[in-house]
Amino acid sequence: MLKVGLIGTGGIYRYAHLEGWKAAEGIEVAAVCDANRELAEQAEKDFPGASIYTDYEALLERDDIDIVSITTPNKFHSIIAIAALESGKHVFCEKPDAINPQEAERMADIAARTGKVLMVMRNNRFTAAAQYVKKLQQEGFFGELYAGRCGWVRTRGIPGRGGWFTTKELSGGGPLIDLGVHMIDLAMWLSDNSVPSTVSGTTYRQFADRPDANGQIPAGTFDVEDMAMGFIRFTNGASLQLEFSWASNVEREKKFIEWRGSEAGFSIIDDELTLYVERDGQVVSEKPELSHTSKPQHVENILHFIACVRGEQEPTITPQEGVHMIHILDAIYRSAEQGSEIKLG
Ligand SMILES: NC(=O)c1ccc[n+]([C@@H]2O[C@H](COP(=O)([O-])OP(=O)(O)OC[C@H]3O[C@@H](n4cnc5c(N)ncnc54)[C@H](O)[C@@H]3O)[C@@H](O)[C@H]2O)c1
Repeated sequence: MLKVGLIGTGGIYRYAHLEGWKAAEGIEVAAVCDANRELAEQAEKDFPGASIYTDYEALLERDDIDIVSITTPNKFHSIIAIAALESGKHVFCEKPDAINPQEAERMADIAARTGKVLMVMRNNRFTAAAQYVKKLQQEGFFGELYAGRCGWVRTRGIPGRGGWFTTKELSGGGPLIDLGVHMIDLAMWLSDNSVPSTVSGTTYRQFADRPDANGQIPAGTFDVEDMAMGFIRFTNGASLQLEFSWASNVEREKKFIEWRGSEAGFSIIDDELTLYVERDGQVVSEKPELSHTSKPQHVENILHFIACVRGEQEPTITPQEGVHMIHILDAIYRSAEQGSEIKLG
């Protein structure tokens, strides 16, 4: 029986993680922690008998806890992950890995030194469409995937305006770090393009001081971007365009990935997969009928992590991928500030 401590029992814990830890076999959620005691007490009702903490350091002092899961605001991910790894725990953590590259590197180094599993949520890899495309890519169906686009563009969808999401010190940034991690990771993983060489980007903050639908400007801080555009070159010559926004004057919200390959291409738009293949000199679109037998994507990711802790599976999400990711995001922010391209590596 693996004993688990859950740290941060707010929105995503209740919306997605709870189902994962409930679905997992051979584990016991032995401790729950939230800085807000009421939320920790609510979480204890999900796992009756679990000890309740408001201080994560007290939870980490327990030698009987094998796994820690972190679902706090972004700033605390690396701080708690590093302390948890140092205290001998395996760590599952929400995205983004960290709010700067130095912290992401420290996390990866300490995981390597301690030999503990460190995995950061990449739930979008576990959709039926993503799993199918990955299989095709590994079989060589697309040939070389050389030019891609990805994004998540909302018309109006600023999360927790005035709270930690829109406060750079706590979040590390706006939609680029919030939504970008999901789609940039998926684009890199599906195409096998993982090592960036140069990055260029722009960011905008157009909606921070604008009244919301009720005519009010919410109190609190809003010092992050609400839109980011970018361009990544990879060491193998492939390139990826990207755009992320919490608020834009566009037709509709859209979440998308598109890759062009030498033999075939694909797009996943709002989770719908289309393949583009050549038949008799013409490009034909195919929409595979995918069977959705798998569990929800966040649940699948948590179950994969547990299987890795048990040594039953090899991690398909590695700390080094997180290091590349946070370097890319950081370089986009730096490029936007400087107005020029950033060379990585
Ligand atoms: N993978 C996904 O689909 C997905 C979706 C939403 C959010 N997230 C990520 O999950 C994380 C949490 O987001 P959320 O929407 O649940 O936020 P939230 O504000 O609803 O919940 C965060 C919780 O952490 C608690 N907390 C803050 N600091 C703490 C500390 N030092 N120790 C213990 N508890 C602390 C807060 O009291 C709060 O209850 C974020 O990093 C976010 O990026 C991921």
